[in-house]
Amino acid sequence: MQYVTLNTGAKMPMEGFGVFRVPDLKQCEDSVYEAIRVGYRLIDTATAYKNEEAVGAAVRRAIADGICTREELFVTSKLWVTDMSDEATAAAAIDASLRRLDIGYLDLYLEHQALNDYFAAWRAMTDAYRAGKLRAIGVSNFYPNILTNFCECVDVIPAVNQVELHPYYTQETGLMAEESALDVMRRYGVVPEAWAPLGGGRYNPFEDEDFKAIAVAHGKTVGQVLLRWNVQRGVVVIPKSTHAERIAENFDIWDFELSADEMARISAHDMGYSGSRAKHFEPSFVRMVLGKE
Ligand SMILES: NC(=O)c1ccc[n+]([C@@H]2O[C@H](COP(=O)([O-])OP(=O)(O)OC[C@H]3O[C@@H](n4cnc5c(N)ncnc54)[C@H](OP(=O)(O)O)[C@@H]3O)[C@@H](O)[C@H]2O)c1
Repeated sequence: MQYVTLNTGAKMPMEGFGVFRVPDLKQCEDSVYEAIRVGYRLIDTATAYKNEEAVGAAVRRAIADGICTREELFVTSKLWVTDMSDEATAAAAIDASLRRLDIGYLDLYLEHQALNDYFAAWRAMTDAYRAGKLRAIGVSNFYPNILTNFCECVDVIPAVNQVELHPYYTQETGLMAEESALDVMRRYGVVPEAWAPLGGGRYNPFEDEDFKAIAVAHGKTVGQVLLRWNVQRGVVVIPKSTHAERIAENFDIWDFELSADEMARISAHDMGYSGSRAKHFEPSFVRMVLGKE
């Protein structure tokens, strides 16, 4: 496992385990426990996933069973946009996340999207960070222009920006802007973290001939190659699976290295835009997420 140092000085594992779309709490708890048993030390949940209780239960069980200590784990959750209307509402939502998880503190807490009053919510996040409830605070789905404005205006620079990052949407080059999403994060010292590092169930990278050839050359699977590609370009990955064999497979990425040519071949699959349903820049998506339509 490799670690990246956040702007707080804390070390963040470069691979973690995501639990988006795991609404069954028993399945979520068992998957997270299995992930920790296999060696993952970063777990990524969110208020919106409605499974923080299950993540907390798995973490407590793993600690009680002597698999790891709380200090070795890095648990992330996120503030949902409807809780970002003002400082008091955000502060109450942060405390509610901490209560549901029941693991003392959170290693990282993110604003899930740049919607609603995300500056007021950030003031509540900053207070909770300074109080030690949240060891680091960051953002998610902050596009380059939004992240630039945010970093130029806030007291505490986000430690992390969690965005969609996979070979079909590399975010290595800007569309019309001169700086790409990754350039902006580098400029402000914000660590990039990939959601949907395996494509999120879209695109079917597992059948791509080019990815398969690179995987065969290393005696690895396509999933392992895609995760390794992101880690090698400095991006934290948080693949999700509810299958034990895939949970183990996805973690086994630390014993090989992609060449510069292979890295470029993988990046060449970039479409330059998100093929995900989550189109944060679309007005109708914004109204839908805010519950207005
Ligand atoms: N901040 C945000 O807005 C945001 C948005 C999306 C996701 N996230 C976070 O990022 C995490 C990862 O993203 P994601 O869950 O959307 O997508 P992902 O991890 O890229 O892909 C998960 C999908 O790939 C399958 N899969 C996993 N390992 C596989 C393997 N080795 N071979 C073949 N298929 C495999 C999973 O199926 P099985 O489970 O059936 O194995 C699931 O359908 C989430 O869980 C969440 O924590 C954040």
